[in-house]
Amino acid sequence: MFKLCIRDLLSIKIKDPVTGRKLYWLEKILFSPFVLFSFSFGGVQLLYGISRGSGGCLYRGIYDGRDVVVKIPSRQSIISNNRETEDLRQEFECGRKLSGIECIPEYIDLLKLSVNTVAETIDVSLLVLEYKEGVTLSRLLGKRDILNMHEKYQLFKRLLDGLAAVHRAGVVHKDINPANILVKFSLTKKRLEDVWLVDFGASHHERRFVAEYGSPEQQMPIVFGDVGELSDMFSLGLVMYELLEGDLPFPRDLAMREIAGQGELNLQFSTCEDSAMKQILTRMLVKEPGKRFSSIAVLRRKVEQMM
Ligand SMILES: Nc1ncnc2c1ncn2[C@@H]1O[C@H](COP(=O)(O)OP(=O)(O)O)[C@@H](O)[C@H]1O
Ligand SMILES: [Mg+2]
Repeated sequence: MFKLCIRDLLSIKIKDPVTGRKLYWLEKILFSPFVLFSFSFGGVQLLYGISRGSGGCLYRGIYDGRDVVVKIPSRQSIISNNRETEDLRQEFECGRKLSGIECIPEYIDLLKLSVNTVAETIDVSLLVLEYKEGVTLSRLLGKRDILNMHEKYQLFKRLLDGLAAVHRAGVVHKDINPANILVKFSLTKKRLEDVWLVDFGASHHERRFVAEYGSPEQQMPIVFGDVGELSDMFSLGLVMYELLEGDLPFPRDLAMREIAGQGELNLQFSTCEDSAMKQILTRMLVKEPGKRFSSIAVLRRKVEQMM
């Protein structure tokens, strides 16, 4: 009876007063371990859920007086094999190597909690990250004209700077896609203010399934070789292509076949008229990694010269 009442409320969405983002508060709380278990909770105050994805549930919260996001393994994962807890630990270790890089939110802490279920006590890790205000690029892509050409190029350059620093720190992101890029855009000033690259949850994985934006070497390592820095270059190339052209160069449901299949991608530039940019994207999106630019740093210099 009680559960039914809660389910009735599931459709309630609240709007974040700061970003205008819609939040699914009750739904997220219900999917967290908090409703079903009692546990000791050190120093984190959760405000509401932001998203529920492959890496766990993400909440906005306060920790040590700071505005943070807290990534928590899903309830199912805690009950079953607790794999996501290990993933969060690895993401934290990876994130710590990136501290000080301008477009990466700071990885603040990894908290260990004891969750008491009826049968046993389970250790759970919570990842605490600096909160960054912004909307995901995936949401902006639906509204094509919000960013003008100059801002799109700015965004590209900032991502290249960030990614070059990430690679220098010995980390490959492996999941660059519009949902992992946060953009702060001022509607009143009508300009791009900040760009953030989030979610290093895939970087420690040898191989994790990535759909539309995955490189040929991620989709088909037997043919294209190991996943390395140039894999991020390909994924970023697809993001930029979509940002400039309004869509990916293939139907989404055929992504894997198109990316891993024979022949180069069919890049048809109908909106982008800048030949330098077309050349750059074409080279970023060559299937054979060795024929792309040799590194993000080299690409960044090329972009500076050409644009
Ligand atoms: N530091 C952050 N500040 C604000 N929002 C964030 C932050 N990190 C992630 N997000 C938001 O939460 C979403 C999910 O986080 P992410 O780390 O990508 O988890 P998942 O592994 O589920 O994809 C992102 O798409 C982004 O909208
Ligand atoms: Mg993500």
